[in-house]
Parts: sequence; structure tokens; C-alpha cells
Amino acid sequence: MAEPKKLFIKTYGCQMNVYDSSRMAEAMGEDGYVLTENQAEADMVLLNTCHIREKAAEKLYSDLGRLKPFKAEKPDLKIAVAGCVAQAEGEEIVNRMPLVDLVVGPQSYHHLPAMARGEGPRVLTEFPAEDKFDHLPQNRATRRAPTAFLTVQEGCDKFCAFCVVPYTRGAEVSRPVDRILKEARDLVARGVREITLLGQNVNGWHGLGDSGREWHFGRLIRAIAEIDGLDRIRYTTSHPNDMTDDLIEAHGAEPKLMPYLHLPVQSGSDRILKAMNRRHTAVDYLRLIERIRAARPDILLTSDFIAGFPGETDQDHADTLKLIEDVGYGTAFSFKYSPRPGTPAAGRECVPDAVADARLQEMQALLNRQQKATQDGMIGQRVNVLFEKSGREAGQMIGKSDYLHSVFVAASDIQAGDLREVEITHSATNSLGGRLI
Ligand code: 5AD
Ligand code: SF4
Repeated sequence: MAEPKKLFIKTYGCQMNVYDSSRMAEAMGEDGYVLTENQAEADMVLLNTCHIREKAAEKLYSDLGRLKPFKAEKPDLKIAVAGCVAQAEGEEIVNRMPLVDLVVGPQSYHHLPAMARGEGPRVLTEFPAEDKFDHLPQNRATRRAPTAFLTVQEGCDKFCAFCVVPYTRGAEVSRPVDRILKEARDLVARGVREITLLGQNVNGWHGLGDSGREWHFGRLIRAIAEIDGLDRIRYTTSHPNDMTDDLIEAHGAEPKLMPYLHLPVQSGSDRILKAMNRRHTAVDYLRLIERIRAARPDILLTSDFIAGFPGETDQDHADTLKLIEDVGYGTAFSFKYSPRPGTPAAGRECVPDAVADARLQEMQALLNRQQKATQDGMIGQRVNVLFEKSGREAGQMIGKSDYLHSVFVAASDIQAGDLREVEITHSATNSLGGRLI
């Protein structure tokens, strides 16, 4: 038998890219490729890229530069670029970096095996009418980790003025109910106990249920929750305007739906929210948070914020800090505004860099204080932890609490996949420590 060919994948960016990378690995697996963690021994290197901010996109080119000597030494080495930079820059990538053999966009990656065999084009960035999921081998979750991602929705129709997603991932598409349920059942049959439903605008998911009636996202969650053996459901990322009553209610009624919600608001200033085309005000968001907390009082909230969006004044920035104070986040991501080619805000006059930097720092300091306060508040509480892997120290196991905190315990009798109650005893920078009850 021939030695299997080795595939090295580097994934940049969001969780959907992590999911896409595993699906591409499975598709290439059908052609005899096995994954390797060692790039030096790879026959094919696949870079699954992110275009959300300039820094993320630049990483591709510096990594391609680093691959040059490997390709020089091993001319058969195939180098493929997938993901959102592939979609946005297409042909330009091979022009700028001739060592790249293949470029494939996020909606075409089911063609990657044929392209790698030399049976397809070198660059493929179409939005085909067919559904790539119909052409991919099933989600095998080969590692049988207790947690898995499942893409239920892709693309975005919201067109926030700063964001490339509607251009790189395309229009919103929801996968059909039956395929999602099948994939979820298959994952659970393979030992998965926690599923995170993914979509760029996941709570905008809708589809036809079995009786031909339109389902919204809350209904889908309830159907997935009926799968025996599945303990936890999460979802990301959501837009505030698609938080329907049904979904909010599910947070109160469905015990498998974890008390954690990532609900990006981006800014606390109505002027900036309008300039961003977010289509809601700060008060709309705060009222929504109130309703979500009424349904699930212990829910841990997280968000994304952008510092230095074009036109942002000191007052706008102060409004954002005020919103952060008012909500009280468990943790949150904040980014300096990065103009993205082709987006409506790209041509607008930027806030001076030093000002944006200072605002970002102020925001991050406040968010860090909130994260610390949330974690410190967990000390003495009992939480459920789904254990995923062993820690760095001998006998240590790491898992995630219902609130998505990383929790370490010293316990030799725990295995990956065990769900156990833990008393939190201390709080570190990005994790909690505890002991089994
Ligand atoms: N500049 C800075 N941050 C951005 N994000 C999206 N586009 C940009 C941009 N051009 C942030 C938003 C979004 C998160 C995934 O990335 O906060 O919610
Ligand atoms: Fe981008 Fe999210 Fe806005 Fe869609 S809703 S355009 S993905 S920031």
C-alpha cells in the first residue's frame, strides 16, 4: 500500500473556519490524505484564511513567505489557500504568490479534492447554486472530541458598513432542518455531548420543519435538544435584531441551551450605530438584554466592540463605555476599526490612529475588569463542567463550565467527555480552578 499523503491545515479566524477546515480534511481524507501537525512533512499545506480585519488578511502573505523554502526543497508540495481571503482576492493571490497552487473560496471547497488532483481550475471563488454540504462526506468528528461545531447558517444580509462578511461569505443561506438534525444525531452517536451551532447570523436561521411549517431558530434548538445523549447546545454569532421571542423563551425553558450568549453590539452610540448600519439603538439593545436576563437571569453575556469607527467622537466613545458599564459583560472582544476594501465605510475619513488606540485600550481595560469581576464572582459556586482534555500538569483535567469558562481540576479519575459538578475555588487570568464535588 502507498504511504498516505499528509495534509497540514492552518486555520485562521472564526469558529466557522475551524468547522470548514475539518470538513475539508474529511473531503481530502476520501482521496487518501491524513492530517499531520507537522508542516515540514506535509505533501499539501492548506491555509484557511480570514479577511475580517487587515491584520488577519496580512498573516496569509507572511505565512506564504515562510513556505517558500519548503516549496523550493519539495517542488511537489501543494499549497492551497481557502477561506475568506481566497474569496476576496482570488486570482490576485496566485499573481502575488506564484507558489500557491490552488485558491478556493468558502462556498466552493467541496471541489478541493478534484482541484488537488489537477481536475479543476486553479482558482475557484464562485457562489455555486448547489449546496456544498450535499457534496461533502458526512461530518465525522474524527477525533471524537466531546464538543463539536455544526454550521446551520452561512452568509449575511445585514451589510454593516465595516464588514466584509456579506461579500466573502455571500448572502444568508439556512441549511434545511433534516440535514442539520441528521448531522447533529451523527455527532452525538460518535460521542459528542456539546454542539455549537454556527452561522455568521445564526439566529437569523429559518427553515421548513417536517410539517412544511416555517421554523425559526428557537424551534431548531428545541428539536436538537430532543436528541438523547446530547447535553449542551450553544450558538454563535447573533445579531440583536434577530433575537426573537421564541429564542429568548428557549433560553428560559430549555435546560440544554447553555446560559451564555455572544451578542455583538459594536458601539454604544446611536450616531455610530446608525453610521454602521446596525439598525438598532443603544436603548433597543439594553431593553433586549433586560428581556434575555428576565428569561435566564444567570446568563453570561459577551459582545464585540469596534474602537475608532469613522466619525467616532469622544462622546460616542464615552457612550460605548457607558453601555459596557450598563450591561456588565462576562467577557468581550474589542477591535480597532480596520478599513476593508469594498465595504461602505472604507472610503470614510478615519479617526487618528493614536486616538483609536487609546480608546481601544480604555475599552479593553474596562472589559478586563468586568471579566475579572465575573470570574471572581464564580468562586464558591458549583458549576457543571464538561471535561475535554488533560491539562499541562500531571493529573490535571480541563473542561468548560456552562458559562464557557475554562475550568481546571486535579482529578485522575476523569475522562474527556465526563460532565461533572465542580466547586470553583480560584480564578486566574483566563480560567478558573476548582475541585470535584
Ligand atoms: N474592523 C474592525 N473590526 C471588525 N469587525 C468586523 N469587521 C471589522 C472591521 N472592519 C469585528 C466586529 C465583528 C467581529 C467578528 O469583528 O466587531 O463583530
Ligand atoms: Fe458582518 Fe455580523 Fe454585520 Fe453581518 S451582522 S455584516 S457578519 S458584523
